Amino acid sequence: MFSHLPLYAGDPILSLQQAYLAETRADKVNLGIGAYQDANGAIPTLRSVAAVRPQIAADQGATPYLPIAGSKTYRDAVTELVLGSERYEKVAGRAVAIQSLGGSGALKVGCDMLKRHFPDSEVFISAPSWPNHQAIFETGGFKVGSYRYFDAATNGVDFDGMLADLQQMPARSIVILHPACHNPTGADLTRAQWDAVVKVVAERGLLPFLDMAYQGFAEGIDADAYAVHAMVDAGVSLLLSVSFSKTFSLYGERVGALVAVCDDADVARRVLSQMEMSIRANYSSPPTFGGRIVTSVLTDAALRKDWKSEVEEMRTRMLQMRERLHAGMKSRVPSLDVDYLLTQRGMFSYTGLNPAQVERLRADHGIYAVGSGRICVAGLRDENVDRVADAFAQVMDD
Ligand code: LMR
Repeated sequence: MFSHLPLYAGDPILSLQQAYLAETRADKVNLGIGAYQDANGAIPTLRSVAAVRPQIAADQGATPYLPIAGSKTYRDAVTELVLGSERYEKVAGRAVAIQSLGGSGALKVGCDMLKRHFPDSEVFISAPSWPNHQAIFETGGFKVGSYRYFDAATNGVDFDGMLADLQQMPARSIVILHPACHNPTGADLTRAQWDAVVKVVAERGLLPFLDMAYQGFAEGIDADAYAVHAMVDAGVSLLLSVSFSKTFSLYGERVGALVAVCDDADVARRVLSQMEMSIRANYSSPPTFGGRIVTSVLTDAALRKDWKSEVEEMRTRMLQMRERLHAGMKSRVPSLDVDYLLTQRGMFSYTGLNPAQVERLRADHGIYAVGSGRICVAGLRDENVDRVADAFAQVMDD
């Protein structure tokens, strides 16, 4: 019956993670998957999470189904977090959200809803983008095109190219945008550039779908949501996928949200119902535990403050590692331009390493990076950064 099925080649990031876990060299280094590692190389349990988790586990008892859209307290807390409290009050009624299975789950629920109601629209992702953007929207039935984004000559954003491509898109095109900490390049837009994007999106009647999985890792919680805030303030309707995998270090709990900001409360009610229809037909309703953790932290002033300081600690450690790797590379190969390590932001940097160099890093040094040349700087720490600089210098200098 199934003999005609081809073998799924696997996902470039998740397959790499399996290969890393199977690696036997004790000094292996994981610069592959986008998972924050602390100064000891461990995926941390955040203090704020540890403070609430035992009580939630103890209180858990029976676990009846959550409503299709998830916990209302969670959905409100997340919407307030991503919009900022003043804007949240201002758009009350026309912003709606569902509790999703991480960021991917939010993208999938949004994709299914859009396919029903924008069947002829094309989806555009940045070139390059996170591989799952293409996978989710293509398997969801959309044609997926791209807009110019990364400029290998400057290691920054090809902003003129991006804007020109946005200006060519037909009305109702769905544009996937990364508000901060672009995955995979780490190259972000400035505020002035976002303002220009918002203008084109509004003028051309495009449908922005923002994917925010790293809020707080570039500049800070509020600053990193600038693109979202600017769109809402300009009266643009949008979808926003949110993930707490990284910022709460709750990868396996699959905690996220899909937020929609609409023209008015009546439209918002219908949009929410369409999201619910997608959820019911996919997985019926979300799990409880991870959402309870995030809700407990976000709705307690002291815990929320501590969580914000933990996000700041992660952000600054990644910045320090960027500086260490930059200095290490400069001292080894002064002619190499590695300033992109300092200008790119968040968890990822696009090193320009080609697949053969990435393979040499793995085979000769036990250093795992994504074949595209993306590294996760959160995998660097005091004990390995010099060895990584040595290995990078070797493979880049040959
Ligand atoms: C990544 O980009 O490495 C993360 O978002 C993990 C994933 O699911 O790909």
